[in-house]
Amino acid sequence: MKGKFITFEGIDGAGKSSHVEWLAEWLRARGIVVQVTREPGGTELGEKLRALLLNEPMHLETETLLMFAARREHLARLIEPALARGEWVVCDRFSDATYAYQGGGRGLDRNKFLTLEHWVQERLQPDLTLLFDLPLDIARERIVLANRVLDKFEQERVDFHERVRQAYLERAHGNPSRIQVINADNSIDNIRKKLEKILLVNCL
Ligand SMILES: Nc1ncnc2c1ncn2[C@@H]1O[C@H](COP(=O)(O)OP(=O)(O)O)[C@@H](O)[C@H]1O
Ligand SMILES: [Mg+2]
Repeated sequence: MKGKFITFEGIDGAGKSSHVEWLAEWLRARGIVVQVTREPGGTELGEKLRALLLNEPMHLETETLLMFAARREHLARLIEPALARGEWVVCDRFSDATYAYQGGGRGLDRNKFLTLEHWVQERLQPDLTLLFDLPLDIARERIVLANRVLDKFEQERVDFHERVRQAYLERAHGNPSRIQVINADNSIDNIRKKLEKILLVNCL
């Protein structure tokens, strides 16, 4: 039996990383074997590409190609084998992020995105995507409070992040059965209750 593939998406500071491990533990308590991973990254090579992607300035298409190169590695070495073993994979960001950041944020041609997505993933899509959505100023406030060292993307201007947010919402609108929009301007407890409900209805 094939495992389930769950991805977390949303702008920086939305709260994705605060719930990834929690969700994995919640699933493990139900007897499910779970792999937790992230993009870009998730493999030894992928983490090296992540360091370049998050820090080095580069051409938009170089950035997109590297994202998908890291994704190919991630799928081949970690995600696909785990799903084939019947394990679940919980991943902090996946292709919707490329669509939102390189597409919405930076203006990559949608057809180029679709070509690469098809090449790298064939027909594989997450079974469920949890999109953490909230106003930009609240996300910014959280990042400042956390004293986080900002990466290349986090250093982008407000209008960049607004386009990323809108692209995510547009993607959710186009994929309503896969992408569940979570109001992330809420307490961690309330968000967890909401996630439990979504998982029970959609996956268990
Ligand atoms: N619901 C929430 N309410 C208040 N603060 C939160 C909430 N969720 C996360 N945070 C805090 O906001 C910061 C960013 O959260 P994080 O999970 O790292 O976001 P992301 O991974 O989406 O960038 C962290 O310091 C985290 O503790
Ligand atoms: Mg994070």
